[in-house]
Amino acid sequence: MRKIKFWLASIAFISAAQASAQAPYSLPKLKYDVKALEPYIDGQTMEIHHDKHHQAYVNNLNKALAGSELEKLTIEQLMLNASKRSEVIRNNSGGHYNHTLFWDILAPATESKPMDELQKAIELNFKSMDTLKKLLNQAAMTRFGSGWAWLIVTPEGKLMVTSTSNQDNPIMDVAKDRGIPILGIDVWEHAYYLKYQNKRGDYLESIWKVLDWNNVSKRYIEALKDPFLKVIEKNSWKELNDFHMVMAQTFHPIEENNFTPIRERSGEMLLKAIALKNSKIPNSFNTAEIKKAIDELVTGATALHKINTKKAKDEVLKEKMEKLHDKFHEINGLCSH
Ligand SMILES: [Fe+2]
Repeated sequence: MRKIKFWLASIAFISAAQASAQAPYSLPKLKYDVKALEPYIDGQTMEIHHDKHHQAYVNNLNKALAGSELEKLTIEQLMLNASKRSEVIRNNSGGHYNHTLFWDILAPATESKPMDELQKAIELNFKSMDTLKKLLNQAAMTRFGSGWAWLIVTPEGKLMVTSTSNQDNPIMDVAKDRGIPILGIDVWEHAYYLKYQNKRGDYLESIWKVLDWNNVSKRYIEALKDPFLKVIEKNSWKELNDFHMVMAQTFHPIEENNFTPIRERSGEMLLKAIALKNSKIPNSFNTAEIKKAIDELVTGATALHKINTKKAKDEVLKEKMEKLHDKFHEINGLCSH
């Protein structure tokens, strides 16, 4: 009997250990005491916010990802294509990322100041810290319902103030302004209601007393160098994504000997190629090499559509399509380096 109990206990221990070893995300520890931000943010709010709300985002995210291919992605990769994720993954990946950033950019009132690089960028983009404060508080005040106000670094390397609803953030393809957040203000009621009730404005005044400008500055410098900015820039290029979609939906069936999609959609693919050529090419990709490759893509799509309307044989269509597919990947590759 004792042996069986020991055996059962070992199994329980091993599966608990395996479960925690496999769970990709965990709750980060606060670098300060829950009461350290008082009187601006009270200890009880911090405790519930961190230990309950953030923990729930982590648990729900791990549960939603368990056993799926998505477990292998980084949180940024998960969020990048938020429009394609389930609502649970979108909300909880954002919830985990946003709160991890939030704890990091808060600190007991130390009157820290932005480092030189960030200070200069604030002056360049907003003229002064006062204007930045006004814009961020305005974004936070006017965010209807739950959400976040953000200071982000855009793919052009500029600072920008924006806001998102619920647990979305500017990394996600669902956000209207994209970039890497370096400062985020949580305007969910769970962030302030115990102390400030419905007075969001008072909470916003207080939060400026506990911002850790050292960490915001570090995040700014890191964001400028982060290759993920280019990924966001490419991901925001709608016409490139649109072309990719038609290419994927017509090319892969051909590999399985199904020519129906390309027979029906070669005209649409040509229009998407033209739209790509006429689109505003994001700054980092606006090179002669990429422009030339896009021109060739249009030429290839024109030829493909022409032979399709003349009912070309499958083999001929396949050959042209393979060339067009290669050309698209050449553009895709050029945008990834
Ligand atoms: Fe929150």
